[in-house]
Amino acid sequence: MLVLGIESSCDETGVALYDTQQGLLGHALHSQIRLHAEYGGVVPELASRDHVRKALPLLNQLLEQTGIERRAIDAVAYTAGPGLIGALMVGASIGRGLAWSLGVPALGLHHMEGHLLAPMLETPAPEFPFVALLVSGGHTMLVQVDGVGRYRILGDTLDDAAGEAFDKTAKLLGLEYPGGPLLAKLAKQGRSDRFRFPRPMTDRPGLDFSFSGLKTFAMTTSRDAGDDDQTRADIARAFEDAVVDTLVIKCRRALQQTGINRLVIAGGVGANQALRVGLQAMADASSASLFYPRLEFCTDNGAMIAYAGACRLAAGQQQGLEINVRPRWSLEELQPL
Ligand code: KG4
Ligand code: ZN
Repeated sequence: MLVLGIESSCDETGVALYDTQQGLLGHALHSQIRLHAEYGGVVPELASRDHVRKALPLLNQLLEQTGIERRAIDAVAYTAGPGLIGALMVGASIGRGLAWSLGVPALGLHHMEGHLLAPMLETPAPEFPFVALLVSGGHTMLVQVDGVGRYRILGDTLDDAAGEAFDKTAKLLGLEYPGGPLLAKLAKQGRSDRFRFPRPMTDRPGLDFSFSGLKTFAMTTSRDAGDDDQTRADIARAFEDAVVDTLVIKCRRALQQTGINRLVIAGGVGANQALRVGLQAMADASSASLFYPRLEFCTDNGAMIAYAGACRLAAGQQQGLEINVRPRWSLEELQPL
């Protein structure tokens, strides 16, 4: 079965073709980062309009690039939530309309299920069950994945997502949006022994996160210590150390608590080098294996939606003609396969 996947929940337009026999045949992505940069964050209306502009040209580009004809598509999967309602509506309308015109089934997918299953596109793919750490601009979650559609949320953020905390602290340090990678770069020049930031919520049991206090901590530190280049780098370093330590501590705890020794890391913050080093040391010490989707599938993309969609569509799931999206949607409401 050849499945077209469409992702448009936030600021990336992604399309991909996944074949249940041959695997991933191709994917294409358009990022809106430059469009939103001057506003310091994603502007929902601009995001929707840009998805409208880019989705079909991107699909045509993918078909051309793979040499596949539109009528070879057997089913369509699109992100139905959670995300920005206007942005979701674009992908859903295009996906649903295309499926209707081709006379094939279509299915709305949960964006986070896409992220959770993205490592299945790599070799070796992790076996079920595994623990997944999802760390992006919009989410920070630990999830136990027992199979497709069988997800248990072990921990979630009570306020800012990890990437959001990176971006807000970066802004405070005068860096451009999205500042996460720039902050990480600045931290390399910073000294680890000048400031010590708290490791939020690690001194009590449980797997929830809270990152908004770190941004406030960075603000007061900067107010007291000044904003010369070395101080900014030292603050960046102390902030990154605190986030990395906190994530590593919670991942170790999640593995211990579940008795599972496979950990998957997904989401944009998974690109952070210090986090990768910290998690590797923890995994080595706990005889656990780490799995990362390739960098371009850590962040939002169409391939993860095509893959998750293929699992469900190949099992016979599909939906009627109405176009429904769900800006808010819990992972735990999904139907197991
Ligand atoms: O998954 P993603 O591309 O988008 C969603 O939020 O869905 O994640 C983007 C987030 C941004 O907050 C960005 O600043 C952060 O990931 N990020 C990083 C790094 N690369 C991206 N944060 C820290 N260090 C990095 N190297
Ligand atoms: Zn995402």
